Amino acid sequence: MADTFKMEFQSTASLEGGDVVIFVAEDLAPTPGVSEQLGSRITDLLARTAELERFKGKYLSGMTIVAPADLPIDRLIVVGLGGEKERAKLDFAQLGGFVAGKLGAKTATVLLDCPGVPFSSDAAADFTLGMRLRAYTFDRYKTKKKDDEKPAGQTRVVLAVSDAAGTKRAAKSRDAVATGVVIARDLVNEPPNVLGPEEFALRAQALSKNGVDVEVLDEKAMRKIGMRALLGVGQGSARNSRVAIMRWNGGKSDDAPVAFIGKGVVFDSGGISIKPGGGMEDMKGDMAGAACVVGLMHALATRKAKVNAIGAIGLVENMPDGGAQRPGDIVTTLSGQTIEIINTDAEGRLVLADVLWYVQDRFKPKMMIDLATLTGAILVALAQEYAGLFSNNDELVERLVAAGQATGERVWRMPIGPEFDKMIESKFADMKNTGGRHGGSSTAAALLQRFVNDVPWAHLDIAGTAMGSPNTETSRSWGSGWGVRLLDRLVRDHYEG
Ligand code: BES
Ligand code: MN
Ligand code: ZN
Repeated sequence: MADTFKMEFQSTASLEGGDVVIFVAEDLAPTPGVSEQLGSRITDLLARTAELERFKGKYLSGMTIVAPADLPIDRLIVVGLGGEKERAKLDFAQLGGFVAGKLGAKTATVLLDCPGVPFSSDAAADFTLGMRLRAYTFDRYKTKKKDDEKPAGQTRVVLAVSDAAGTKRAAKSRDAVATGVVIARDLVNEPPNVLGPEEFALRAQALSKNGVDVEVLDEKAMRKIGMRALLGVGQGSARNSRVAIMRWNGGKSDDAPVAFIGKGVVFDSGGISIKPGGGMEDMKGDMAGAACVVGLMHALATRKAKVNAIGAIGLVENMPDGGAQRPGDIVTTLSGQTIEIINTDAEGRLVLADVLWYVQDRFKPKMMIDLATLTGAILVALAQEYAGLFSNNDELVERLVAAGQATGERVWRMPIGPEFDKMIESKFADMKNTGGRHGGSSTAAALLQRFVNDVPWAHLDIAGTAMGSPNTETSRSWGSGWGVRLLDRLVRDHYEG
């Protein structure tokens, strides 16, 4: 498979050289135009190969036929779309990823027009998004590459679609989203020695190239305004904490912004309540929420979304040393509320408490969504299939669930409320930072809610979906870049214009 694709869009593609991809339903009837251009011999070949390989046109199955020497193409790649029910709700990004995984030649022609399948320009654009995401690899630290890891170069891909101009436009906008996902994946995959809070803030600052205003608060600035919960988490680290605020103003100047807040713990050792050693290296990914926010802001800005959006990320490292925060400490948050630290490993909520309050107070957003690899408990509840969704607003929940269905980045609503709020009452302070073993994801969300007033708000616990994800057609990456597509879609459907 290629590392990159050079996409072209044509309404009539001539079949010459390279790989030709066609789609078939369960009746195995090929895309129109194939036998016209290649002769009926190719359909005979297809039928015979299907018989011998027991290929039934099932969804996301494929077979590859090497073309006879006198035909003008190298290979015919036949991809199944399944039965009527599957064809009615195809995931075009997954399909694009599947096809990308099959390509080998330097040029490829993909005949997207298949009988009975509506490849709208939007669907075709999602297909290109899937191809790009599938080709992503993170190998910058491998100095010795095995044969199958060596860069394979670029493949020129011609997409045959009926509306070439419309598809080109849609694909350009989807390309901005793909780059956003790639940015998020890179940030999550980077090792924690390379990506400290300051370096992370610099990567956020790079968005200014795309027209995003970026502001970075250093520790002095944070101390001055009173972000003591966030600072407390970083105080055991040799590296200084940061908050980065990104602003994209693509909407009307008097329109209140939408806001996205990310947990950016660049490494979570647990602090004094140190984590067990096994798998601790995975805690380099504890900044996946912040990574998603950076990727999303990139996507919104480069596709020039007609929305005012704020991205705010709290960047800290949670480490144990002589200066580190202790269990028993009480910190005063930016909001003025106090939190008793019971466990220094419940640090993400402390970071978010200050950043949520800051964003709500300064920007008066019309809606606020935070993303955080917040609790191991969400993995117990939802595995790696769904992100946990906690919210004070039913309409926002509906919108997020729908965007999740549309993109495949699915969310499942979990409870918050007075029962869970009671579990974080403290003997000494306004609240404590853990609520005991039971309902761990809900008590964490209940703490966050104390830092949100009446603004529609949702919290996404992405500890299960953001890292160590199983391979899919659109991802072979440890860091999945989860959430960029979901939130871009949410904005596109409800907050633009
Ligand atoms: N970053 C972790 C949560 C996490 C766990 C993320 C697994 C990704 C994979 C978080 O800071 C944490 O340590 N949470 C504790 C909270 C507990 C101390 C109340 C947890 O889930 O165990
Ligand atoms: Mn922790
Ligand atoms: Zn953490």
